[in-house]
Amino acid sequence: PTTPMVSPFVAPQFSSTDTFKDDIFKGKVLFCTGGGSGICRGMTEAIMRHGASAAIVGRKLDRLTQAAKELSDKTGQKCIPCQADVRQPKTLQEAVAKTIEAFGRIDFVICGAAGNFMAPISGLSENAFRTVIEIDTLGTFHTIKATIGHLRASKGAYIHVSATLHYKGTPYQAHVSAAKAAVDALSNVVTVEEGPHGVRSNVLAPGPIGNTEGMTRLEGKGPNARQLPFPLGRIGSIEDCASAAVFLFSPAAAYITGQVLVVDGGSEHIREMV
Ligand code: HXC
Repeated sequence: PTTPMVSPFVAPQFSSTDTFKDDIFKGKVLFCTGGGSGICRGMTEAIMRHGASAAIVGRKLDRLTQAAKELSDKTGQKCIPCQADVRQPKTLQEAVAKTIEAFGRIDFVICGAAGNFMAPISGLSENAFRTVIEIDTLGTFHTIKATIGHLRASKGAYIHVSATLHYKGTPYQAHVSAAKAAVDALSNVVTVEEGPHGVRSNVLAPGPIGNTEGMTRLEGKGPNARQLPFPLGRIGSIEDCASAAVFLFSPAAAYITGQVLVVDGGSEHIREMV
C-alpha cells in the first residue's frame, strides 16, 4: 500500500476530557516553560481542563498575560504569567518563587521552551548554534534545577518536549537535533537519580504538528518539505500532544518513567522504497 500524503491541518475532533475524568488533576499545579503559545500552551490548557492550576513561563509578558487570561477563561482554573528567559537561571528561580507564592506547590513541570529555524550546518554561525543549545538544552537543565526540590516534595513529574529530528540526519536541523538529543539524555538521568525520590521523567517527542510556529518555520523550506508521509493519514495536532501529556501526568502512567513517547502518527517508521 502507498503511504498517504495528506493535506495538513486536518485536526481531530476530540478532547482529553472525552477519555479522562475532568478532575484527575484537581489541586495539582503545572509549571510550563514555553506555555504562552503552540504545543505547550495546548498541553497547559488540557491539563487545566482536568482541574490543575498553571504557571506559564516565557520571555514576552504581553503574550503570556493574554494567554494566561484566555486559559483561565476557557478552563475555569487559575493561570499566572511568569516572565523569564530559560537561559537565565535567576529569572527561572523567580518564576518558580512566584508560582509557589501563588499556589504553594508544583506537581508537574513541562520543559517546553525551544528555539528553531532552518539553516545548513555550513552556514550556521557559532552564535546561532549556541543560541538553540542554550534555549533547549541549558534551558531544560536550568528548569530542572529550579524545580526539582518542589517535585520531590510533591512526588511530581516532568515532561520534556523533544523532537524526532535527531533519530536520523535531518537536513538544516543540526542545532535543534543536537539540543534535543541532549534533552533526551537529561531526562534519562533525572529518571534514575530522582526516581527514588518519587519523581518521574518522560520525554514527549512530537513529529510534524500542524498550526504551530515550529512547523510554520520549517514548512516549505527543507528538501523534504511537504513530502512527509503519515501512516495515519493526517498531520498531528496540538490536541494529539496535549492528550499524550495528560496521560503521562495522570495516575495511569504511575509506573512509566524514563520513556520517550513519540507523537507522530507513525511517520518516524516509514522508509520509502526508492
Ligand atoms: C540562521 C539564524 C536564524 C535563521 C536566528 N539566527 N535566526 N541563523 N537562520 N533563520 C541566528 C542569528 O543570526 C544569531 O546569530 C543567532 O541565531 C541568535 O539570534 P537572535 O535573534 O539574536 O536570538 P534570539 O533573539 O534569542 O532568538 C532565538 C531564536 C528565536 C531561536 C532565533 O527567534 C526563536 O526562538 N524562534 C523560534 C521559536 C519557535 O519556533 N519555537 C518552536 C520550536 S519547534 P549571529 O551569528 O548572527 O549572532 C521545535 C521542534 C520542531 O523546536 C520540530 C518540527 C518537525
